[in-house]
Amino acid sequence: MMKILNLGLGLMMAASLFSCNNGSDKNKNSGNGALSSNAAEQVYVAPGEHDDYYAFISGGYSGNLLVYGLPSGRMFKEIPVFSQFPTSGYGYSEETKPMLNTSHGFIPWGDAHHPDISQTDGVIDGRWVFINENNTPRIARIDLETFETVEVIEVPNSAGNHSSSFVTENTEYVVAGTRFSVPIPQQDISIKEYKGKFKGTLSFIKVDEDSGNMEIKFQLMMPGFNYDLSHPGRGQSHGWFFFTTYNTEEANSLLEVNASQNDKDFIAAVNWKKIEEYVNNGGGEMMPAEYAHNLYDHNTHTATSTMKKEVLMVNPTEVPGAVYFMPTPKSPHGVDVSPDGQYIIGNGKLSANLTVHSFPKMLEAIKNEKFDGEAYGIPILDFEEILAGVVEQAGLGPLHSEFDDKGNAYTTFFISSEVVKWKLDTWEVVDRKPTYYSPGHLTIPGGNSRDPDGKYMFVMNKITKDRYLPVGPELEHSAQLYDISGDKMELISDFPTHGEPHYAAAIKADKVAPKSKKFYKLAENTHPYAAKNEGETKVVRDGNIVHVYMTTIRSHFSPDNIEGIKVGDKVYFHITNLEQDFDVPHGFAMIGQNNSELLIMPGQTKTSVWEPTKVGVWPFYCTDFCSALHQEMQGYIRVSPKDSDIELDWSLGDDAEE
Ligand code: CUA
Repeated sequence: MMKILNLGLGLMMAASLFSCNNGSDKNKNSGNGALSSNAAEQVYVAPGEHDDYYAFISGGYSGNLLVYGLPSGRMFKEIPVFSQFPTSGYGYSEETKPMLNTSHGFIPWGDAHHPDISQTDGVIDGRWVFINENNTPRIARIDLETFETVEVIEVPNSAGNHSSSFVTENTEYVVAGTRFSVPIPQQDISIKEYKGKFKGTLSFIKVDEDSGNMEIKFQLMMPGFNYDLSHPGRGQSHGWFFFTTYNTEEANSLLEVNASQNDKDFIAAVNWKKIEEYVNNGGGEMMPAEYAHNLYDHNTHTATSTMKKEVLMVNPTEVPGAVYFMPTPKSPHGVDVSPDGQYIIGNGKLSANLTVHSFPKMLEAIKNEKFDGEAYGIPILDFEEILAGVVEQAGLGPLHSEFDDKGNAYTTFFISSEVVKWKLDTWEVVDRKPTYYSPGHLTIPGGNSRDPDGKYMFVMNKITKDRYLPVGPELEHSAQLYDISGDKMELISDFPTHGEPHYAAAIKADKVAPKSKKFYKLAENTHPYAAKNEGETKVVRDGNIVHVYMTTIRSHFSPDNIEGIKVGDKVYFHITNLEQDFDVPHGFAMIGQNNSELLIMPGQTKTSVWEPTKVGVWPFYCTDFCSALHQEMQGYIRVSPKDSDIELDWSLGDDAEE
């Protein structure tokens, strides 16, 4: 045991030597040196100009997705996904609370990891972004017309939903894999029974080609390994999906030691087309499962949550030819597929070399049954038979690879804190640059597709240290942007990210910007509590429930005076923003309200609930500086004792409407 722990320390020592002694990189951008004016020009987007790319960067433990521009590194929006977000009222408003519903009840927080953009013919199409929630397993879909989360589906029989949420090349499926194996179905057994009894599932979630709506088509019941990351086959390997595993030792304690025993773990190669065919012919077995499916409607501006009761489970050993294990040194983290679909790169995080598997050789080995045993009935392919090549001594602690449009791959090395460029086919390292510090994922626009871009690459680092002005013990993680258009990578800027950016997906701005929605049409608003003009505003009492149908327009609420509310009432403010203009939201905030403000987009209706506990006259106001008379945009609510007989009354101006 001590030996292994010492090895870990040794690696860390080597790492510091490596990054301080990187003689090949004494260029103008190394270390803390000043950027050349050339680099500054490359990232400078003049006032009023737009960036060339959108980058969708995971917010990690913030639960959200952040939208940045490249090359400027400017942050444009935080899109709430798995976490309550007081800035807009997401997860607080009555309409959006169902988005955070799960089989464990309402969960106000999530851990977002890997965004992936929808694809058509292997090319990113800019329709949707999918992102996984790691902690309470879920997959979300974000609509890139509205930049809003429109769907969240929970993944049952999963725990630590990490090897997610990557899409196949026509977005036939978005795929999710479990990091922690668990008893399936869940049951009260000893943790010591892990080996053999705990299982891991890989979930294939069908995406409707028109609406984008998700539905779990099937789950694969796999051995109790940890499924870490995944990527789809493409081109020649379309129809397959690849998942890394670690802990093939099936240890249940002190994994840093016990899950690092095997010289090789596996990449699971899954022929999903074969399984789809099996399932379409009645294969698999329905098993009871409880999971939430939450869907947001842009006309009612309201989400609904449906609890599902069963899921189709497939035992891989019953579908011959569907699943194989590719031995891969050593506790691989990332698995990445080259743009032509020929190479499957395993980033063995405890290995100094990168292992590249060949898809054609894999098919050949399957045909000729070149197996090296089996695991739980799943054939293990012979390592040498499927090996395409090895990138020798590329660095320490490889994690992830992406690709450009010129036949190069780029791999991050966590321990040696660098990004290494190497050639597909010859496996030779052609460039390396330090990153600051300890990179996780990297992103090239379209890097996970048949058609990657060759201009920019950015690395998302785990440690920031001295890159920015200190702000106490913790700094936002730093991303570093490199120009990759030349032979050598050139570091051109640092920019801070938010939460922990695990992965990011990026796309040319012209694929998304032209269809971005300007406002919601009031005429299409079918919210049951919408007031579509001031004449429709009213206050309705039903026992102790009060519904306020309220509107906003620059610069007043209608009504703005309400009397006859009582302590113990439950008051629903249904607020419709009557504006029909780009970028004119109004806000709503009520004193003492124990949820959040609302930010209501033009044409939209949102609802917040308030339960007054104190007698008095209480103000509300617009939180968003909407006009020169924003500060006048306010109102009062009179709250009387529970047994009061004050009549309900509401007005705007002095025009009481009874
Ligand atoms: Cu409306 Cu400020």
